[in-house]
Amino acid sequence: MSRITLSRYLIEQTRSNNTPADLRFLIEVVARACKEISHTVSKGALGGVLGSMGTENIQGEIQKKLDVLSNDILLEANEWGGHLAGMASEEMDNAYQIPGKYPKGAYLLVFDPLDGSSNIDVNVSVGTIFSVLRCPERNGAEGDLGEEAFLQPGTEQVAAGYAVYGPQTMLMLTLGNGVKGFTLDRELGSFILTHDNIQVPEQTKEFAINMSNQRHWDAPVSRYVDELLAGKTGPLGKDYNMRWVASMVADVHRILTRGGLFMYPRDSRDPSMPGKLRLMYEANPMSFIIEQAGGAATDGQQRILDIQPTSLHQRVPVFLGSKEEVARVTAYHQE
Ligand code: AHG
Ligand code: MN
Ligand code: MN
Repeated sequence: MSRITLSRYLIEQTRSNNTPADLRFLIEVVARACKEISHTVSKGALGGVLGSMGTENIQGEIQKKLDVLSNDILLEANEWGGHLAGMASEEMDNAYQIPGKYPKGAYLLVFDPLDGSSNIDVNVSVGTIFSVLRCPERNGAEGDLGEEAFLQPGTEQVAAGYAVYGPQTMLMLTLGNGVKGFTLDRELGSFILTHDNIQVPEQTKEFAINMSNQRHWDAPVSRYVDELLAGKTGPLGKDYNMRWVASMVADVHRILTRGGLFMYPRDSRDPSMPGKLRLMYEANPMSFIIEQAGGAATDGQQRILDIQPTSLHQRVPVFLGSKEEVARVTAYHQE
């Protein structure tokens, strides 16, 4: 059997699907950075990479050493190649400027360098999430790239993906024509196409939510989860199973593999925070991937990909996965 590497897949895409060569190069570089992060994560205590930095990011979250290391790996890998006009990340307050000594390119890269921080020190799957946008025309504008350039709805993404660092390291990618899954072959050092046609089943019996926040939920979410828990004898007429890894990459990966519904609703703990997950580098790339695999993603009111972002670190409620359940919980919000 001839093995299709990520590089070969991308070259074939430039031929058959008009994927521009600089986008291909960008994805290759991101994948290389993910390999390095995978390697760093896997060293754990032996590499002295566990534990906290003792610093906070803009969202007031304690930064783990691996949050910062992964962010640096992605910046260093991507800043010199000439394919980017700028980058933004969970771990940086503002847009990252491409250093003046390097050429600039047409794209913007937005990422969550390490998703699932609370799972790092306990050896549970974590990952990297990324989204690629086109940089709007700057009409000859000089000077720093501002945050406005990034504030495009998710429908404008030209590519999105994530790497999950679990029992296997995998890279899941969409260029807007379906979702492909690649598994890292550590001996070869290459991502190999192993999941050719990823489809999220329309129906499911599995859901994911952090139940400890139940008392803070809005009425539609409480009603819906009550119905899920009521099982066969309730209005939904079937028993549901629950899973919550607490790394979005791992929960979404399970849903891409066997279906399910992922929820991180808004809750009343902090009224200034409409949800926990961030639109630009968590909700949008994951929603693009899920939709490309035949699933759906909303914030309870509207399609996530249609939301016009207002700030780089904006948070949104997230309901994504199997179509039937996303439609149901969304309908409950609209009643
Ligand atoms: P991050 O580690 O990038 O801050 O993201 C963590 C997110 C997401 O991965 C996960 O689904 C969620 O936080 C878990 O939240 P709880 O701690 O409430 O379970
Ligand atoms: Mn995250
Ligand atoms: Mn993170």
